[in-house]
Amino acid sequence: MKVIVCKDYDAMSRKAGEIFAERIKAKPGLVLGLATGSTPEGLYAELIRMNKAGDVSFKEVRTFNLDEYVGLEPGHDQSYRYFMNAKLFDHVDIDKANTRVPNGKADDLASECAAYEEAMKAAGGVDLQLLGIGSNGHVGFAEPGSPSDGRTSVVDLTESTIKDNSRLFASTGDVPRQAISMGIGTILESRQVVLVANKESKADAVARAIEGEPTTDCPASFLQGHPDATFVIDEAAASKLKGEYERA
Ligand code: F6R
Repeated sequence: MKVIVCKDYDAMSRKAGEIFAERIKAKPGLVLGLATGSTPEGLYAELIRMNKAGDVSFKEVRTFNLDEYVGLEPGHDQSYRYFMNAKLFDHVDIDKANTRVPNGKADDLASECAAYEEAMKAAGGVDLQLLGIGSNGHVGFAEPGSPSDGRTSVVDLTESTIKDNSRLFASTGDVPRQAISMGIGTILESRQVVLVANKESKADAVARAIEGEPTTDCPASFLQGHPDATFVIDEAAASKLKGEYERA
């Protein structure tokens, strides 16, 4: 696993942005796996800046998001479809028909999950998967306890995730209790993974993911078994690491 420690959030976002832009330039029809949350917002701003400057085009890019809350309309301002449109898709030259976010309002959620996996396969698989990390070590909404071979499915959110995400809702009671999420098995199949993390609140999870034994207690630790996974993190998120790592 590769680890790049950046000075601060802006440097982390620029570094991750460079990695994404280089990959898209090398393969214009790249299949991206995308994440929501506060952490990738700076990276998305970088990609928008580069797109507007004519440095990178999303015209042929296809995307699959990691997850979506069950029960939220795509137009709900806390849905992940809404987030992706607002933070990236509305501002770059991507064809929205080529962007997929699981449908958390599907009548048959199990069929939606199976169709999502099929669509990824039909697209040739994910070339580059972006991840954030939860303070409990989750990736996507693959929460602690998730199996290392899990596929896209409906998952129950843990109390710690509900608490972390309640900052974005009017009250904790408004946070959905379930989500559709890619599983660890799905994520590990992508050809390349970039995980971004900032802030001290992520330092424990980052240290367990990078330096701990791979365990279902910290789903991100399974990335140690991926052949091309890079953590791009700021100094605060790296503050509990014991080893020496590349600095950018
Ligand atoms: C969201 C997702 C989650 C977040 C994680 C960190 O699509 O997959 O795993 O990446 O909860 O969220 P932030 O970045 O808000 O701290």
